[in-house]
Amino acid sequence: MVKIRPMTKEDCEAVFAIDRACFADAWSLKMFEELFQYSVNYYFVAEDVDGICGFAGITTSVDTADVMNIGVMPERRKEGIGQELLEVLIQQAKECECEQIMLEVRESNLPAIALYKKNGFQAIAVRKNYYTQPTEHGIIMQRSLE
Ligand SMILES: CC(C)(COP(=O)(O)OP(=O)(O)OC[C@H]1O[C@@H](n2cnc3c(N)ncnc32)[C@H](O)[C@@H]1OP(=O)(O)O)[C@@H](O)C(=O)NCCC(=O)NCCS
Repeated sequence: MVKIRPMTKEDCEAVFAIDRACFADAWSLKMFEELFQYSVNYYFVAEDVDGICGFAGITTSVDTADVMNIGVMPERRKEGIGQELLEVLIQQAKECECEQIMLEVRESNLPAIALYKKNGFQAIAVRKNYYTQPTEHGIIMQRSLE
């Protein structure tokens, strides 16, 4: 059974590996380690007996939470893990008294866009050629938390 729990510094190597399996423009290990310097970051991992299979995080400002990453190991997708992680992020954003949660997604990333729409996010803007490797427009999505 998969459990969602807060990420710790000890999880950085495992999360770094998942990030590389998920994204062409993956973060460095140092970027994950530095997350813990700032109290505005809330990161979570999905874990079962085989280890960590997914992770997700938000960064919060006064009234807005931004989804920074959400990723599930390719062989563990379509099991509901991404949904569970996103629910925890939304709950955390509410606990931080954010009024909205926002994110940016590649326009070709249909699985992620479907996940976000299912959870009440709406596309509000397009950032032209925002992504590289490959170059692609970014869709900005928003959900109110009130
Ligand atoms: C996006 C991602 C996190 C979804 O994780 P997941 O664990 O496979 O998602 P779940 O099994 O919880 O699915 C929840 C919902 O997401 C949507 N979804 C997930 N995979 C999908 C797919 N391949 N095609 C269409 N919709 C999909 C569906 O709406 C699904 O609900 P449903 O099962 O009722 O149809 C995963 O595909 C992933 O890690 N992708 C690579 C990293 C990434 O692109 N992250 C987002 C960056 S913005």
